[in-house]
Amino acid sequence: MNEVIKTRHLVKRYFLESSYVEALKGINLSIEKGEMVALMGPSGSGKSTLLHILGGIDIPTEGKVFVNGQDIFSLKEKSCPFRNKHVGFVFQFHYLLPEFTALENVMIPVQIYSKEGAKEKAERILERLGLKDRLNHKPSQLSGGEQQRVAIARAVVNNPDIILADEPTGNLDSKNTEVVMNLLKELNEKNNVTMVIATHDREVAEYCSRTIYLKDGTVQS
Ligand SMILES: Nc1ncnc2c1ncn2[C@@H]1O[C@H](COP(=O)(O)OP(=O)(O)OP(=O)(O)O)[C@@H](O)[C@H]1O
Ligand SMILES: [Mg+2]
Repeated sequence: MNEVIKTRHLVKRYFLESSYVEALKGINLSIEKGEMVALMGPSGSGKSTLLHILGGIDIPTEGKVFVNGQDIFSLKEKSCPFRNKHVGFVFQFHYLLPEFTALENVMIPVQIYSKEGAKEKAERILERLGLKDRLNHKPSQLSGGEQQRVAIARAVVNNPDIILADEPTGNLDSKNTEVVMNLLKELNEKNNVTMVIATHDREVAEYCSRTIYLKDGTVQS
């Protein structure tokens, strides 16, 4: 057994002025190396919250996350270097850098590790995602679906071991959904990348090897 992601009793409460929302109510998960998992459930069920915590982008109120056996919220293992090297994250809302072109947005994470070949690497992946003729557009000069594909390129360009994708095809037509899912499937099969993909789309879930259903912050079997 090769457990890549494990959570123990994850609870997330968002505190408002006089009340709070319990977005996750004690999630216990175990995901193995090379699994491609769909995360489904109604709007507000906690999918984005869970992905953010798995990626170390948000912190849980209670509970623990282990990635490759390491507690990612323990003091000595700061989440940032862990995240940069090992996890590719696709946000539900893309968060591209507005002042930079599509190409630059994808090159930036590569350049953290090596300047050499960053441009070619970024170009190759953008081309694969059908954006060959949009390399020099800034995000505001791209359609929503094009921005989404740039965000996917950015998440996968460093060959992460884990990809966490929050509705990666939410703005895409069926042709581009297929392009994106074929790329993710290929990374999963060829490089054994572990993936968790939040989606409302059954077709997307069909590319995955397992579906986890969330409802009201709990896992439905
Ligand atoms: N920053 C926040 N402050 C307060 N409540 C929040 C915050 N972020 C999320 N919530 C609440 O937590 C719950 C879970 O939100 P989350 O974004 O994880 O849902 P989701 O399953 O991703 O939904 P969707 O399918 O619409 O993207 C929701 O009820 C939401 O209103
Ligand atoms: Mg969401």
